[in-house]
Amino acid sequence: MQEILEKLEQKRQGARLGGGPRRIEAQHARGKLTARERIELLLDPGSFEETDMFVEHRCSDFGMADQHVPGDGVVTGQGTIDGRLVFVFAQDFTVFGGSLSEAHAEKICKIMDRAMKVGAPVIGLNDSGGARIQEGVASLAGYAEVFQRNVLASGVIPQISLIMGPCAGGAVYSPAMTDFIAMVEDSSYMFVTGPDVVKTVTNEIVTAEELGGAATHTQRSGVADLAFANDVEALSEIRRLLGFLPSNNREKPPVRPTDDPADREEPSLDTLVPENPNKPYDMKELILKVVDEGEFFEIGRDFAKNIITGFARFEGAPVGIVANQPMVLAGCLDIDSSRKAARFVRFCDCFNIPIVTFVDVPGFLPGTAQEYGGIIEHGAKLLYAFAEATVPKVTVITRKAYGGAYVVMSSKHLRGDVNYAWPTAEIAVMGPKGAVEIIFKSDMADPARIEQRTREYRERFANPFVAARRGFVDDVIMPHGTRRRIAQSLRWLADKKLENPWKKHGNIPL
Ligand code: HXC
Repeated sequence: MQEILEKLEQKRQGARLGGGPRRIEAQHARGKLTARERIELLLDPGSFEETDMFVEHRCSDFGMADQHVPGDGVVTGQGTIDGRLVFVFAQDFTVFGGSLSEAHAEKICKIMDRAMKVGAPVIGLNDSGGARIQEGVASLAGYAEVFQRNVLASGVIPQISLIMGPCAGGAVYSPAMTDFIAMVEDSSYMFVTGPDVVKTVTNEIVTAEELGGAATHTQRSGVADLAFANDVEALSEIRRLLGFLPSNNREKPPVRPTDDPADREEPSLDTLVPENPNKPYDMKELILKVVDEGEFFEIGRDFAKNIITGFARFEGAPVGIVANQPMVLAGCLDIDSSRKAARFVRFCDCFNIPIVTFVDVPGFLPGTAQEYGGIIEHGAKLLYAFAEATVPKVTVITRKAYGGAYVVMSSKHLRGDVNYAWPTAEIAVMGPKGAVEIIFKSDMADPARIEQRTREYRERFANPFVAARRGFVDDVIMPHGTRRRIAQSLRWLADKKLENPWKKHGNIPL
């Protein structure tokens, strides 16, 4: 009996070695951890239970019949993060370059199916040379099985992808369908076709890092939401992100105790908005000052900086924050910011996370680049996302809320539950100068008259009270009391029930 037990232990030890010491060393030399080391850091100590450790590929072509590594290049199983169940797969680059075989895909599918059955998040650690070349179409079919599950799980359980090495070709489409993509700087890249193919087809010379590194995808394409300096930081931040999310779409996000009083006042907010309406201020300052303990987990920090999205808490309960940033493009909505915020709003709505919106928006960004790029359709995404969201929605207008952008930014008209305005708010069709130039065109030759008209317009419309008189804002509040007012609103909205009409699914302008 003892011998049998020892044999099992030996087999396990063999499997844990993956591609062997030489390849593990190579992995470390690149500043990368192995699949098992990553899982150890991601999960609570000792909580990981591995599944399918002895699965092997079934390929016999191209010399594969004699090359078998138990586990077949992916470590799968479940464990906990802060005591909450999560499922995880980590591709093992030391085994066939982490490439995906039929068996490798089956392992991933198995844990995805389990996660769906019990309603727990799936975290994928990607580090793979793509389809297992020796397996041909069987490998492609394996990817397709994973893709199909990604789609069915979307909006049911949170799915998070951490790119920690290569992720190329069609393989990118699995992470692309998950809720959040994080990348590790200098050691990960994602692209549909690599630098060699790009050179052949378009004559462009580009490195893998330039084409699909963390900086590219968090700053230019917006494909990735987060970038981290190394594996350790990435894994610990993913743990933190999980703390804001419910395990599935039937649960509320986890509430954690806080010592930060809900009625804490912030006198400095009374002077946050400058007297000159054209002067910017940092909307992040407002966010950090009103949320619990100043903790804000920003999503998409380096992309479309004219809008801020991320998670925070009020009275320990997670919320999604969406905020215009006057420091960038004066806070205008454009194509990228609309896409970024729309996706974030939809995530929050899928997973019962209330949305708090801070508004200072002079309108949509003008220009041919925006119009030719389809701002009409992209702006509509954000409008659609806010309008369909049924989670509690609390909005605070700090300064400008002009035109269509006023309506889009979680206005009362899109079923905003509580809409506040600061006394500095200007809710109007457009700014005073633009308005006067249009409606008093005939006076344009007379600067004194134009100035008087502008002053009249400003007094009449550049304030929150016109909207407040109609109930479009529920109250005009003191900036220093913003935290208390938001917390109170979220408290009474906690059991909000609102359903959209039955439909197979809506047709969001994609
Ligand atoms: C089988 C692979 C592999 C693959 C790497 N390996 N990629 N084995 N199938 N796709 C193996 C290598 O043979 C090598 O084995 C080990 O993994 C490490 O690879 P190296 O090339 O030595 O490492 P490195 O120099 O770091 O280069 C990594 C790499 C490169 C850039 C990922 O290996 C590469 O270009 N691989 C092919 C990528 C690719 O074209 N994949 C198909 C994409 S199309 P040994 O035994 O020497 O350690 C695709 C379609 C998906 O994925 C479609 C979904 C619908």
